[in-house]
Amino acid sequence: MSDLRDRAVLLSGATSGLGRALALRLAAEGCRLAVCGRSPGKLAALVADLALPADRLLARAFDLTDRAAAAGFAEEALARFGKVDILVNNAGANLGKASVGEADLAAFAAMLDLNCTAQLALTQPVWRAMARSGGGRVVNIVSSAARFSVAGIAGYTASKTAFDGLTGVMRREGKPLGIHVTAVYPGGIDTPFRAQARADYLRPETVAEAVVGLLRLPAEAAAHELVLRPPVEDNFA
Ligand SMILES: NC(=O)c1ccc[n+]([C@@H]2O[C@H](COP(=O)([O-])OP(=O)(O)OC[C@H]3O[C@@H](n4cnc5c(N)ncnc54)[C@H](OP(=O)(O)O)[C@@H]3O)[C@@H](O)[C@H]2O)c1
Repeated sequence: MSDLRDRAVLLSGATSGLGRALALRLAAEGCRLAVCGRSPGKLAALVADLALPADRLLARAFDLTDRAAAAGFAEEALARFGKVDILVNNAGANLGKASVGEADLAAFAAMLDLNCTAQLALTQPVWRAMARSGGGRVVNIVSSAARFSVAGIAGYTASKTAFDGLTGVMRREGKPLGIHVTAVYPGGIDTPFRAQARADYLRPETVAEAVVGLLRLPAEAAAHELVLRPPVEDNFA
């Protein structure tokens, strides 16, 4: 898939940070885009910046943990473009940093829901369509939190590690179906995800560039994983 022109891409979490950078980058590559986010206002700003004709853009605001909305959006994208060539599961959040002894169970469960179960809900209709049509590409934005345990981040780490496990099974099951699955493990990115600006972290445009680079690799290259950390981090073995 070296040329991304006219590829139909479904991208979640497109209203902010990495997802927004990726949406703009993929539009510049000539992709057709189905983008979603939670905030209608931020989605409207993205739509204005993308400036794509209606037949090349589908944009919907909804909460990804709403199962019917997630599945409905995936079905709408498939109907609009006739297929989805590339699915990027990017939406995610840290709903509260807490240690094991102090973690709020409701926040913990909500993170497992958003960062893992909701990803599957959005993926399933696309996955079935890809399987029927002979394949596709799935990129899951996990986190370096799934590869290196940091004290005090129990819920987010557990939820991203669950998503990582799901990604591994997707890769196995996708192989005979022609669905190629890539896990991306970013370290710190300077986005609104962070409570404070971090100029020493990765720029979202840099991570978007790396994801597009993976997508442009020819079909014989199965990129299973990409780990990308800012030089300031040393959370590796
Ligand atoms: N920033 C980092 O340091 C870092 C590091 C490793 C991995 N990641 C992961 O990278 C991905 C992108 O994060 P980011 O840094 O770009 O964060 P961000 O700027 O906060 O963007 C997160 C995106 O996810 C959407 N989202 C969050 N909760 C949602 C929900 N319940 N329903 C629908 N959409 C929802 C947001 O929508 P709205 O803005 O419209 O609410 C937004 O578009 C996430 O999966 C995150 O976990 C981030």
